[in-house]
Amino acid sequence: MKRLMMLSAAALLSVAWMTPSAMAGGVAEIGDAGKGRVIFNKGLGDDVPACATCHGKGGMGADEMGTPRLAYQVQKYVWKQLEDFATDKRIDNVMYQMNDIAKALTAEQRRDVAAYVHTLKTPFMGSDLDQMRKDDEEIGVVHKGQIIVEFGIPSRGIPACMSCHAFHGRAAGNIYPAIGGQRYVYLKHELEAFRLGHSTPSSEDEMARDNDLMGQMRNVATKLKDEDIANVAAFLTVARPATAGNPSAPRR
Ligand code: HEC
Ligand code: HEC
Repeated sequence: MKRLMMLSAAALLSVAWMTPSAMAGGVAEIGDAGKGRVIFNKGLGDDVPACATCHGKGGMGADEMGTPRLAYQVQKYVWKQLEDFATDKRIDNVMYQMNDIAKALTAEQRRDVAAYVHTLKTPFMGSDLDQMRKDDEEIGVVHKGQIIVEFGIPSRGIPACMSCHAFHGRAAGNIYPAIGGQRYVYLKHELEAFRLGHSTPSSEDEMARDNDLMGQMRNVATKLKDEDIANVAAFLTVARPATAGNPSAPRR
């Protein structure tokens, strides 16, 4: 009996212990989402256009503009990107506007807008690959991309993307962004940018991206061929936010 009580006390303790770290895992907001909503939809003065003009009203991004989906994205990841743009650690090499936009926001406003986009409950919607194929764009092969995301290519030293980004690229913790359901054009562009960033710093070639912690992403991207990049992007954009044990096959 005494042992049982000790056990349950330990269980209670571990629950109390868990709570703060569970909150740090993304539940607690890092900024004021209400203030962030105003910035997102209306912008700020002359220097900050409404984020929605490029990222879409629901924050879903647009292939025509090469903008990423921000809806649902990990708060701390979004915030880190805004800090990296503000300090030129990452260069917007699509429209060359994010650096100026991030600099025009205060540190607090960057947190607010990151908190807001995380709350966007836009239904899942990746790129329309069928339409893009009809428009004669070269699109990768979904099932080949799925193999890389789930198993990697061991013979070429390529790890499974899900080992960091979780099943179907649905994000993990505060560091690994959601890449499932992301825009096709954006996914391809970032992978090419990281690949270039492995050999050339962005200070020398602005097309490079090298703001990933410890080169984690550059080390993977450098091993990918153009074909692999197109294939993983094709799978990821249609990957549903499912879990590994979920018996219902993801729709594509
Ligand atoms: C003029 C168009 C434009 C506007 C306005 C704009 N963005 Fe962007 N944003 C982009 C483009 C293009 C990229 C992709 C840059 C790249 O790939 O290097 C981007 C990338 C980002 C990223 C990186 C996302 C990721 O997954 O790594 C974040 C975060 C972001 N924008 C937030 C914002 C916020 C917040 C606002 C409003 C304050 C905003 N953007 C306004 C065009 C815009
Ligand atoms: C060792 C861990 C690791 C592995 C394995 C990994 N990634 Fe990443 N990836 C990262 C990290 C960390 C970032 C965030 C970099 C940052 O903070 O700017 C990232 C960022 C990305 C981004 C940019 C997301 C955005 O919104 O801008 C894409 C796309 C991406 N990874 C795709 C992949 C693909 C595809 C694979 C498999 C071929 C893969 N990753 C494997 C660690 C990893």
